[in-house]
Amino acid sequence: MVSRLTPFLVMGAALVTVSGLWAWHRDAQASRASLIRIEASQGRQLFHAMCETCHGPDGDGAGGAPNLMNGEVLQQYPTVSQLATFIQERMPATNPGILTNSEARDLALWIQALNPRLTP
Ligand code: HEC
Repeated sequence: MVSRLTPFLVMGAALVTVSGLWAWHRDAQASRASLIRIEASQGRQLFHAMCETCHGPDGDGAGGAPNLMNGEVLQQYPTVSQLATFIQERMPATNPGILTNSEARDLALWIQALNPRLTP
């Protein structure tokens, strides 16, 4: 009797495990997405404070520096970390090197958000 039930018990345990893992994965993804939203909104504030005089309030190049919302910048720096590295090493153009890693990452996420159709 026990041995005939065993496969069902094993299956049941496996199902519980799989659904638990799936819920964990879903929650982890949801919190990752909301973390990215928070970081991007911090990037937006930094952008207004430090970048818009040259790149324009919406990143459209209104201040004379390159347009950051037409997709070209993402062709050059496709990943967040490539974009963040460039920003940290070279921007703001008049005072490069003042941004922390996390500020540069926040800004990179915001610039990605300015290019919504092109963000993977
Ligand atoms: C004093 C003006 C000025 C400020 C302030 C400034 N930039 Fe720039 N930015 C430029 C110029 C000029 C270029 C083009 C030359 C270059 O790539 O070095 C540029 C290029 C860039 C590029 C690459 C664009 C491309 O298509 O290659 C990015 C990304 C960028 N800036 C982000 C930022 C961010 C983020 C900030 C704020 C922390 C910022 N910039 C502040 C003038 C500025």
